[in-house]
Amino acid sequence: MRILAVANQKGGAGKTTTAMSLAAVLAEVSRVLVVDNDPQGSSTWWAERAGESLPFDFAGSTNPNELARLRELPYDVVVVDTPGSLEAGEVLATIVQASDFVILPTEPEALAFQPLSRTIQSLVQPYGVDYRVMLNKLDPRNPGETLEAQKLIDGAGFPRFQHGVRKYKAHSTAPLRGEVVTQYETSRATFKAIDDYRRVALELNTVWAAQSQPVGVN
Ligand SMILES: Nc1ncnc2c1ncn2[C@@H]1O[C@H](COP(=O)(O)OP(=O)(O)OP(=O)(O)O)[C@@H](O)[C@H]1O
Ligand SMILES: [Mg+2]
Repeated sequence: MRILAVANQKGGAGKTTTAMSLAAVLAEVSRVLVVDNDPQGSSTWWAERAGESLPFDFAGSTNPNELARLRELPYDVVVVDTPGSLEAGEVLATIVQASDFVILPTEPEALAFQPLSRTIQSLVQPYGVDYRVMLNKLDPRNPGETLEAQKLIDGAGFPRFQHGVRKYKAHSTAPLRGEVVTQYETSRATFKAIDDYRRVALELNTVWAAQSQPVGVN
């Protein structure tokens, strides 16, 4: 079992979208539980709209102090959605310490870098938990923007997934439809949207395999 926290103190970076989408892709081959540790409850709202169709299990409003107890449950991966504010530092510290891995989604914007950097330096690195930055909301028509963001992250020495997640309208309307990425209506964009998360999952699996206990991803 791996506990995977999705974190970034920058609001709106894509934590909830990443948690729900990555969980959907991982659930194709693994037993997955998503836990909402954000008092804002966005993923809970999304899960409620999805109801029975959600392809993984979901637990809303779990106390971050109880995360360690989840290890007794029969899941391969527990994905934790976390709060995106500076005030929630203590909650986030508790979650990170209980986790095996942290994914930090970030937008490819100059002003997104400082909060990302602060989160890593004050809430991830001190606990020695392995992590990767994941570029999110990438615009394929603006490769310069992606390159600039990659340079900032690499220049700071923060490890990141080679593959980023592109920006698709379907992601922003998915919670309202109660769908996760693997359930979007079939289209070219949907194929690419699923592919983004599959590639990230594959990289994640490679990192985990190197740490000895792989979780299957196709
Ligand atoms: N790859 C993407 N393509 C398009 N829209 C996206 C993508 N990722 C996130 N979004 C949208 O950006 C907004 C913020 O995303 P999300 O709610 O996942 O961020 P968050 O980090 O969880 O925010 P908060 O800090 O408020 O919890 C949402 O409207 C979401 O639908
Ligand atoms: Mg959120």
